[in-house]
Amino acid sequence: MKCTFVKDLYRETGAYENKNVQVAGWVRTVRSSKSFGFIELNDGSFFKNLQIVFDEKLDNFEELTKLTISSSIIVNGKVVKTENAKQPFEIHAENVEIFNLSDTSYPIQKKNTSFEFLRTQAHLRPRTNTFSAVFRIRSVAAFAIHEYFQNRGYVYVNTPIITCADCEGSAEMFKLTTLDLTKPLPTKDGKTDFSQDLFGKQAFITGSGQLHGETYASAFNKIYTFGPTLRSENSNTKTHMNEFWMIEPEISFCDLEELMDIEEDFLKYVVKAVLERCPEEIEFCNKFISKGLIEKLNKLLDSSFVRIDHKEAIDLLKKADRKWEFTPDYGEDLAKEHEKYITEYFNGPVFVKNWPKDIKSYYMKLNPDGKTVAAVDLEVPGAGEIMGGSQREEDYNKLFNRMKEMGIDTDPLYWYLDLRKYGSNIHSGFGLGFERLLMYITGMENIRDVIPYPRTPNSCDF
Ligand code: 4AD
Ligand code: MG
Repeated sequence: MKCTFVKDLYRETGAYENKNVQVAGWVRTVRSSKSFGFIELNDGSFFKNLQIVFDEKLDNFEELTKLTISSSIIVNGKVVKTENAKQPFEIHAENVEIFNLSDTSYPIQKKNTSFEFLRTQAHLRPRTNTFSAVFRIRSVAAFAIHEYFQNRGYVYVNTPIITCADCEGSAEMFKLTTLDLTKPLPTKDGKTDFSQDLFGKQAFITGSGQLHGETYASAFNKIYTFGPTLRSENSNTKTHMNEFWMIEPEISFCDLEELMDIEEDFLKYVVKAVLERCPEEIEFCNKFISKGLIEKLNKLLDSSFVRIDHKEAIDLLKKADRKWEFTPDYGEDLAKEHEKYITEYFNGPVFVKNWPKDIKSYYMKLNPDGKTVAAVDLEVPGAGEIMGGSQREEDYNKLFNRMKEMGIDTDPLYWYLDLRKYGSNIHSGFGLGFERLLMYITGMENIRDVIPYPRTPNSCDF
């Protein structure tokens, strides 16, 4: 079917003026009087709707007045400029074919559009304005991320989904097996005998592509990954899911300070790209989802992010004249309320660096103080920690000893340790949680509303 896309009509209205076009899409609303009516049509190509005017001269005028929300139609008509109207042009229909009259049971009606309800309609919610905006932005942001790295010489690496390597803690990894769980499991020395499993050993689903990413950074200098990440943690919060997408760049010959420069430049690039390429969607988010969003994003582009040590962050929290649910502590992680306070205090994104070694992963570079590691988290208002990164321990012995200290099995990770034997170098990398970035850019408050089909504890619907 040869159709014109609504996006092209909006972007190049002049070229279509007074011309006949065919458009196909879904009805968003219908209003009619005795002799004429208006259809708001969305064809999926553009955030905005197209206004179709139809009148009693059409054979099926009566049927058109009874069109239901989400019916699919094909329209032939003339593009006519409209003076002083809400929309810059409309289509005067010469023929409207009703392809499928949507059933009146269509669940998304004006009166019930809470995000919570729409989560139960995940197969239909992309047809609403909010989710149309969010998922268009998601697509544009993903492309901008690839563009940022590709334009700067990073090699895109596809790290494995099935893995035996422990990066962020095996307790958080989903276990993978083809053993028959309806029968007693084979055992050896009182433990499950995974040598009889498909891979001949215990396998997991990846919780990070970093370790494999590091191997490629040792060959290509700069690499990035962009893929699904799975974690089995039982956290029910607005910022955690069991399946999310992560971008993990890894850069050779790069220390922690340079890493922060890259993180900042990268975040600004993606925000700028979305502001430029999704003006209608961002305007909608600014108006209906998060007032002041555009100002916040523009401010981000003009600011330089604060960089403070974890210790300074705790000092600040301790000095704060308020009660905490979780008492801030020099040896502890930051709670949500702490992240919120710090980003509000500095009124923008904040890098918190040099964390206590005992609450961070084994691969991070030990600082000369022997107590902290060269790790950095980027905290933003709303989404909290959106990036987590570090300079990696490049010394074989220090890394090996740290792994032993932390109870990490070194044998299966011999290849990771090899990197410290063959051309070791100062290198760093970070992980950006794609959905947390999208929360920040769209102003959506629940991570379940920026991924098409959220996977969270007790929820694997659709
Ligand atoms: O801080 P994390 O656990 O770091 C890593 O996985 C490192 N291997 C990254 C690296 O250095 N290459 O995760 C990185 C980011 C977090 O900052 C957060 O944005 C996101 O991933 N994230 C989650 N997003 C949604 N749901 C969850 N359960 C998440 N856990 C982490
Ligand atoms: Mg982290």
